[in-house]
Amino acid sequence: VVFTLFCFSLLHVQSSHKVDDEINRSQFPNGFLFGTSTSSYQIEGAAFEDGKGLSNWDKFSHTPGMINNDENGDIANDHYHRYLEDIKLMSSLGINVYRFSISWTRILPRGIYGDINPSGVMFYNNLIDNLLLRGIEPFVTIHHQDLPEELEQRYGGWLSPLIQRDFVHFAEICFKSFGDRVKYWVTINEPNLVADFGFMRGTYPPGHCSPPFGNCYTGNSDVEPLLAMHNMLLSHAKAVDLYRKQYQAKQGGTIGIVAHTFMYEPLRDEECDRQAANRALAFVIGWLLDPLVFGEYPADMRSILGSQLPRFSSKEKSLLRGSLDFIGINNYGALYAKDCYLSTCPLEAARPIKGFLQTTGMRDGIPIGDQTGMKWFFVVPKGMEKIVDYIKIKYHNMPMYITENGYSSPLNAGMTMNDLLHDFKRIEYHKAYLAALLRAMRKGADVRGYMVWSLFDNFEWNSGYDKKFGLYYVDRQTLERIPKLSVEWFSSFLNNTSDDT
Ligand code: NOJ
Repeated sequence: VVFTLFCFSLLHVQSSHKVDDEINRSQFPNGFLFGTSTSSYQIEGAAFEDGKGLSNWDKFSHTPGMINNDENGDIANDHYHRYLEDIKLMSSLGINVYRFSISWTRILPRGIYGDINPSGVMFYNNLIDNLLLRGIEPFVTIHHQDLPEELEQRYGGWLSPLIQRDFVHFAEICFKSFGDRVKYWVTINEPNLVADFGFMRGTYPPGHCSPPFGNCYTGNSDVEPLLAMHNMLLSHAKAVDLYRKQYQAKQGGTIGIVAHTFMYEPLRDEECDRQAANRALAFVIGWLLDPLVFGEYPADMRSILGSQLPRFSSKEKSLLRGSLDFIGINNYGALYAKDCYLSTCPLEAARPIKGFLQTTGMRDGIPIGDQTGMKWFFVVPKGMEKIVDYIKIKYHNMPMYITENGYSSPLNAGMTMNDLLHDFKRIEYHKAYLAALLRAMRKGADVRGYMVWSLFDNFEWNSGYDKKFGLYYVDRQTLERIPKLSVEWFSSFLNNTSDDT
């Protein structure tokens, strides 16, 4: 008995010591934004109500076989009707920022043609006003994947330069309608992922892919992703130009973009893999951020892709260069990169468009970090520290926000709701990532906010509702929001502003 008590007290000492070392809100600068992140299609529901038009996701999710279990966002979390309840949840968490996106077809049901839908404008006005009433800053993404289907039909959506004009038109309606209260604008969420998934893998709308990337023959996966990205970049730059010229001074906001990021580590301790890791950073992150900071695609991309990579005119280059007030970083960790010039690689990796490299989460059968519920997301907090450091150095330490980071619980057979509610791993995950972020900030990175993906479990695109990232569990039958343990942790983290650690 004495021995057991001795061990127990040792354990107790160790764990209380751990608590002392724990990450604390007061270690972050004053005014640092802490919040949660969502997007319209993933949570709103009311997909065919109050004059909303058809988006590409409304169509895609109703195409048999495209979504896990053939699920869709028709109802999603019914946030459209329950937003007041959801704002109360946010307020009780103690967050001071909430990132959400505007559904283009709720505002402009036909994309550009036709009138503005007053119910759509009213919904976002109410959302914004009620957030502000509770002291929560709206951090607004103008476009997060749900493109008007009419624009897909008319000219192929992001594949046509015509979308630049239409995106700017939509963005201007957002600035005019909401810019008196919105001080943080994101033009487009993760263009680098949309280009890849929509036009190379075919897992997002418009579902284009071609061998060797997939089994559909509707696209040209060697050039379409490049074209789509080119048009997203120019759409962004033109919207920013308009905002800066006509709205920024009088509205006093900032505008940026959100990048999908991974940190890449060489798979083997060899020069060719170190170069592959650098190429991965160029082909995934530089593809988006280099043009917006320097006005040109990365040199590595140009030398490998040659004339397939579209060119910017000199006028476009100057529009693009410096078209960011901040960089939004979505990061869930790191992957390995392996060179594919000489080694055996899957066919798709050994292609110019992929930079002749393969990315993988495994080395000799061992994952780079604990596997989460998402195939490509592993728990690698150090990856966030490194990517923030990389972006700081490469892009002149521009202000950065972690616009998304989150943990999707692996679902095991026999798992109960109770297991999902006791999400100790999510709590450990966020603590570890916050500590990693703090290390990057102590080395000088100008990071100004951290937003958890996500407030609640929601529609995870082609994976449907099986991926659970939320702080709140959502009962799919009743749509009741049930707090997980992480709610308790996050709110006590947010409410603890003492300096005594
Ligand atoms: C990136 C996307 O922006 C978001 O829509 C998605 O649900 C999360 N990451 C998780 O995959």
